[in-house]
Amino acid sequence: MAKDKTIFTCTECGGTSPRWLGKCPACGAWNTLIESVAEAGPGKNRLSAPQGYAGLAHAQPVMPLAAIEAQDVARTPSSIDELDRVLGGGIVEGGVVLIGGDPGIGKSTLLLQAMDALQRAGLPTLYVTGEESGAQVALRSRRLGIEGSQVRLLAEIQLEKILATVEATQPAVVVIDSIQTTYSDQLTSAPGSVAQVRECAAHLTRMAKGTGIAVILVGHVTKEGALAGPRVLEHMVDTVLYFEGDTHSQFRLVRAIKNRFGAVNEIGVFAMTEKGLKGVSNPSAIFLSQHSEPVPGSCVMVTLEGTRPMLVEIQALVDSGGPSPRRLSVGLDKDRLAMLLAVLHRHAGVACMDQDVFVNAVGGVRISEPAADLAVMLSITSSLRGKALPRGFIAFGEVGLAGEVRPAPRGQERLKEAAKLGFSVAVVPKANAPKKPIEGLTIHAVERVEEAMNVVRGLD
Ligand code: TYD
Ligand code: MG
Repeated sequence: MAKDKTIFTCTECGGTSPRWLGKCPACGAWNTLIESVAEAGPGKNRLSAPQGYAGLAHAQPVMPLAAIEAQDVARTPSSIDELDRVLGGGIVEGGVVLIGGDPGIGKSTLLLQAMDALQRAGLPTLYVTGEESGAQVALRSRRLGIEGSQVRLLAEIQLEKILATVEATQPAVVVIDSIQTTYSDQLTSAPGSVAQVRECAAHLTRMAKGTGIAVILVGHVTKEGALAGPRVLEHMVDTVLYFEGDTHSQFRLVRAIKNRFGAVNEIGVFAMTEKGLKGVSNPSAIFLSQHSEPVPGSCVMVTLEGTRPMLVEIQALVDSGGPSPRRLSVGLDKDRLAMLLAVLHRHAGVACMDQDVFVNAVGGVRISEPAADLAVMLSITSSLRGKALPRGFIAFGEVGLAGEVRPAPRGQERLKEAAKLGFSVAVVPKANAPKKPIEGLTIHAVERVEEAMNVVRGLD
């Protein structure tokens, strides 16, 4: 068999070239050729189109779906409840999980804790560390109070050695910390390059599917917030988890953005303590800052991503700007902010044209659901007017371009959670108004943005 050789493959059309070229010779796209390993033998990289396929391969049997028995996937809970929640119940045999997040947010900490728990549960584990030495990991384990752990450790970055070790030690779960430091000898490009990350992840995924060993890949996030390396990594794996949260605050969220074995958008909540990450089982009130008196520019909303409602404070600061005023948002969508400002101007007569507008979701949480719209608008107008919203005030609801306020999914649950935490006044979309009153909560149901503004002015 001829030796595998390096070729360059176009990420757009799959065309190949023996050399790196700026422009793909097949489809003409620029900067799309990346290094990959060609399987030996000529003609393996492109499908020929013969007249019929019968000469190339035998037809395979097919079965009606009804005749196939559905099989539940075998899961092993990690006994870290908040992690199991985002994984959809636990680690799946042969499943590949990618876990991303900023440096220092707690990826290695969480995985070491999870591996220790799995090892205790009787699953053989292997923790491959490419970023830290064995001694550093041991130091962390001491901090976590698990220094007696039986988790097996391998400080290695070369893919072939890692795969050989996995073969020899037969673990049930392998952690690769991180995929960016892993490299294969078969490629000449540097570790961390797109080609290396892609090839290594592909090999590890193949190994997982072939052997039933679960693989957890740690991925770094770029400044822009995407997983460094190709997006193709997200397509390759079964589950993608992202760590969110402000490294300065104690709380961390782990969010499932893709899960072939569970619900997406499920959230696990942790607190970083002196002894590692601890699950927060009742997280609804952690993203509220504690004001002794209500302050202008702050509005609390109830967000419901995943299965649990959470109260999050939205803050806004509107201040006179220069000739080109700035719009900045942290934890909320910037384009959506621009849209909301336009709706405010057009439908409620509130102009911020010559003002800088900053909005922030407290605690480093990211809110992607449009139900935040009403709270964003109300915090902006509150800051502009210099008037605080009343004590115990919450709002949620999506706002449309025509100035209408649209319902948020599962409004009752949100309102009940707010009432439970002692909130007493709510402005919500009309369709979310409950049929029966909720004890302790005065509800103002609105259909339009103007109406919401009038309600708030009436509360002054
Ligand atoms: P780490 O897991 O190394 O982050 P990542 O792998 O995502 O880069 O987390 C490191 C941070 O967590 C570091 O700033 C110290 C802090 N930490 C604690 O506060 N308590 C602990 O018990 C541990 C192990 C780390
Ligand atoms: Mg780390």
